[in-house]
Amino acid sequence: MAGRVVTIDGPSGAGKSTVSRRLAARLGFRYLDTGALYRAVAWSLLASGRHLDDPADVAAALTALRLAVEPGPDEFVVTVDGRPVGLEVRTPEVSQAASRVSTQAEVRGFLLGFQRRCADISDVVAEGRDMGTVVFPAAGLKFWLDAAPEERARRRHRELIERGETVTYEAVLAATRERDDRDRARELAPLRPARDMIVIDATAMSVAEVVEDMASRAGQTWPELKKGLSSVN
Ligand code: DC
Repeated sequence: MAGRVVTIDGPSGAGKSTVSRRLAARLGFRYLDTGALYRAVAWSLLASGRHLDDPADVAAALTALRLAVEPGPDEFVVTVDGRPVGLEVRTPEVSQAASRVSTQAEVRGFLLGFQRRCADISDVVAEGRDMGTVVFPAAGLKFWLDAAPEERARRRHRELIERGETVTYEAVLAATRERDDRDRARELAPLRPARDMIVIDATAMSVAEVVEDMASRAGQTWPELKKGLSSVN
């Protein structure tokens, strides 16, 4: 881990992606979306007609999968067969499938190296569920970003509608709760804040406020960043 690392963990829909991307831009770090890796695995399993919960099928799919994480100008790009993954991994079906495959040790172990290598390449804002606990336990700054389930479902619903999906708020709320329950109950990397994480409840905060708070803490952790930070905004 040669670079500086900020980790942002928390449940789905808390605003992690937007906040992480903006924080990375603000600090001049590269953004790493680790959910995209789990989604890429789930998507390829679905596309090849393999069984999501069958370890043998999953192991075969991981062997066949040509996955890579490449440094782009602002963020790390997840590719399958040399092509960046896109909106095809953002559907509700892939979300549920990603949550299911992420319970499997084989999958988590397979993805670990892909994630860790990013911090050898540059400074990173890493977003996920186990960034501060498993993937980057020595990170200099660790956040847990949370929001009430209703607020998270409202945001996710708006996102899906904007993308042209037909789905009700109630269905999104039910799916949010279902995913939370599964992510919390799993043995591996369960969804909860660790003791060394700074907990931020974003229910009543704007994205700008959250990013501001995080950036100022980054300036305290790495004083050399302060000059660049004050010149933005
Ligand atoms: O952040 P996301 O919604 O794109 O993540 C998709 C799924 O992947 C989510 O249900 C939990 C899982 N995940 C994980 O277990 N660990 C991570 N570091 C990132 C995502």
